[in-house]
Amino acid sequence: MERLAKVIAESGVASRRKAEDLIVNGKVKVNGVVIDKLGSKVSEKDIVEVLGKVLSKEEKVYFLLNKPRGVVTTTKDEKGRKTVTDFIDTDKRIYPIGRLDYDTTGVLLLTNDGDFANILMHPSSKIEKVYIAKIKGIITGKEINKIKSGIIIDGTKVIPLRIKSKKIDKKNNTSMVEIIIEEGKNHEVKRIFESVGLEVLKLKREKVAFFDVRDLKSGEYRKLTPKEVARVYGLAKK
Ligand code: URA
Repeated sequence: MERLAKVIAESGVASRRKAEDLIVNGKVKVNGVVIDKLGSKVSEKDIVEVLGKVLSKEEKVYFLLNKPRGVVTTTKDEKGRKTVTDFIDTDKRIYPIGRLDYDTTGVLLLTNDGDFANILMHPSSKIEKVYIAKIKGIITGKEINKIKSGIIIDGTKVIPLRIKSKKIDKKNNTSMVEIIIEEGKNHEVKRIFESVGLEVLKLKREKVAFFDVRDLKSGEYRKLTPKEVARVYGLAKK
């Protein structure tokens, strides 16, 4: 017997946390009966339905995409814009792990493995994300120190693990700044810079944990190796 939320997450339809939300909101049926208790367990023989669809046991797949600009980080877009899953040739129902803005480029992982996604997204795993931001104007030491001392976002204080000015372009009045964060709040990097009055002109995610896209052109992707998948599982807080 396995926990219902785990079975749903492993089927690839949702992350573990999303699966728990679906259960408590009465969106999950086992053998035709709504089950809204989180601790419920099911066996191989039970028929699990999520939002009216019966779960199938899918093979797990894992991809790393170098996300281009002008692409939405969802599986479907009601405005018909290109989505990150359009780049990946698979018949599995994959979804992006976390979110990059429409105009943000760089490292994006996609999978149908809810547990894997959960490890990378859960705050307790403290996954480092490295961003390079092109900022309008010349960033000052005072602004950097203010960001270092912590910025309140969504009611919590965010302190970057590192922030460093990499290059100043006086002619074009821009700065390239590296910032490393652990959280994954919406528009977090842009909001950090905004809070000290700076505008982000371009944003690239260079790294998530040990993944980078140096060997991938914009829009290119590759499968993760079994070793990389195991390494991510090793990052989970037990
Ligand atoms: N922070 C942002 O502001 N945007 C992203 O796409 C990612 C992190």
